[in-house]
Amino acid sequence: MTRKLRLGVNIDHVATIRNARGGEHPDPVRAAHAAARAGADGITAHLREDRRHITDRDLDRLMAEIDLPLNLEMAATPEMLAIALAHRPHAACIVPEKREERTTEGGLDAAGQFATLQPFVDQLTAAGIRVSLFIEPSERQVDAALRLAAPVVEYHTGRFAHGTGEDAVVELKRIADAAALAAKNGIEPHAGHGLTFANVAPIAAIPQIAELNIGHFLIGEAIFTGLEASVKRMRALMDEAR
Ligand code: PXP
Repeated sequence: MTRKLRLGVNIDHVATIRNARGGEHPDPVRAAHAAARAGADGITAHLREDRRHITDRDLDRLMAEIDLPLNLEMAATPEMLAIALAHRPHAACIVPEKREERTTEGGLDAAGQFATLQPFVDQLTAAGIRVSLFIEPSERQVDAALRLAAPVVEYHTGRFAHGTGEDAVVELKRIADAAALAAKNGIEPHAGHGLTFANVAPIAAIPQIAELNIGHFLIGEAIFTGLEASVKRMRALMDEAR
């Protein structure tokens, strides 16, 4: 039997809407509680250098008020490392971050940045934080994750999600092959970015993938159906595909 696929709900864009006007509403911590009630297995939040959505106070509150494991997405910078070490979330997913990008546009080059990343992976791991590397589904990147001793990789599904026709088919195969490769080497594969009700099934069906992290679509859909309904439907589609 295939293990249950976990759903991490990324609440960044609740904070995006709040920050459009300042103030307190809508509250990403309230969204995390709603996601938990709807069957999320974890909460994911990206504290960006420019604090465009999640803020330091949100992170304090998420750590204090939410029972689900928190997956903190962070750039490999001294500032973020210090914050992660101070808060000790369940997991830290290291992502590439460019100030001018609209969202995380590609995977981390773990192979090319090996020496830079090593102390980050080591210090987070020593603090008991489960490190994940957000990478492209390629053998070269999995090999780097293995050498860095990262216990988890998260595959960037953006190219699959935004691709059409043969491109999406090719990308899906790359993700499935990379998931098998990671699992064979003792690394737990996760996946995320751009996943929706319409495209989640083939990713959820990859048996080695243990967790999906999904945000933008769920928060957008919540406008029409409410967040709990949106998370519940995603949960059901993931379970059906398994
Ligand atoms: N995983 C990682 C590492 C991400 O950076 C993001 C986007 O912030 C996601 C998952 C979720 O992507 P989306 O918001 O498109 O569902």
